Amino acid sequence: MMKTIRWGIIGLGKIANSFATDLQQVTGSELYAVASRSQEKADEFGKKYNASKCYSSYEELAEDPQVDAVYIATPHVRHHQDTLLCLTNGKAVLCEKPFAMNLAQVEEMISAAKEKNVLLMEALWTRMMPHFKFVKEELESGKYGAVKTLTADFCFDADFNPEGRLYNKDLGGGSLLDIGIYPVFCALALLGNPEKISAKAKIGKTGVDEEIEITFDYNSGTEAFLSSSILKDTPTIATLICENGMLVLNSKFHHTDKVTAILNGIKVEHDFAYTGKGYYFEIEHFANLLREGEKESPLMSYDFSRTLIKTLDDIREEIGLFYE
Ligand SMILES: NC(=O)c1ccc[n+]([C@@H]2O[C@H](COP(=O)([O-])OP(=O)(O)OC[C@H]3O[C@@H](n4cnc5c(N)ncnc54)[C@H](OP(=O)(O)O)[C@@H]3O)[C@@H](O)[C@H]2O)c1
Repeated sequence: MMKTIRWGIIGLGKIANSFATDLQQVTGSELYAVASRSQEKADEFGKKYNASKCYSSYEELAEDPQVDAVYIATPHVRHHQDTLLCLTNGKAVLCEKPFAMNLAQVEEMISAAKEKNVLLMEALWTRMMPHFKFVKEELESGKYGAVKTLTADFCFDADFNPEGRLYNKDLGGGSLLDIGIYPVFCALALLGNPEKISAKAKIGKTGVDEEIEITFDYNSGTEAFLSSSILKDTPTIATLICENGMLVLNSKFHHTDKVTAILNGIKVEHDFAYTGKGYYFEIEHFANLLREGEKESPLMSYDFSRTLIKTLDDIREEIGLFYE
């Protein structure tokens, strides 16, 4: 019989709600415990999603021997400390993106996971989604020929709130780490590491990047044009122009259910309809790895997470954006 994975969630904000909603659809996974800095919030969230335990401190959840896996859903700046808390208590950890604030923190997290011999994965859900796997396989098949350009953006018009995590530098604010990470991920996962990175950004009055444009240059001649913004709404599409055709990951490319493929002049619309919000796939993937005793995901490997955060570090250096 399939072992049920008892999940805990730390940090009960927006994404924790989406995750808990999808978790209920995943066979063999249950929401066992939730932890907030506020008991009232934990109780309310726990009641909504039927959690057995509702804690008013992250430590209590991390120390609960019944918890198998913890989903870290706190602001970016806390990912490092909250992940280490859970790993040192022997819990498997699925931590939201960005994995941490910089490569040094990610290295510490990976070392702790190895030392404790537990599973750790960055929750970059797009990598587990059917549409993205399809596009990656199509490109790897070679039938599209070389990629000439990738254009990908992730933008939305966020209300200005200097205290909120999008604009607050102390909480790791800015567009790059929150949403620019998706176009960057897309380029690294589909095209590999670029030889040259250039970037320019609009730094706002709270000191974070409100908009950024990034170019990746590859020795092969391939170019990637990537951007993100918290100042405007765009369809958020990823387009790959190739020698023999093109692939379009349609609106909200990071979790779309529609890919348009044109190969040698023939257009096909591919449908990857799914129920829920799209977090199902990463939850199922992680739970399966845990059941199989794996310590690292083959889809979001440690090396890939290292490359991703190092690339974000390099881009931030280019635009002169440094966090404490
Ligand atoms: N994969 C995705 O699609 C996706 C989407 C959105 C966000 N994310 C990621 O998930 C993380 C959380 O994003 P979110 O939109 O859910 O944020 P959010 O709504 O602000 O929730 C974050 C939670 O973290 C806890 N927290 C701990 N220390 C905090 C502090 N100093 N200030 C504010 N909150 C603090 C709070 O929970 P308690 O009060 O309960 O302790 C808060 O509710 C981010 O790293 C983001 O990149 C991922």
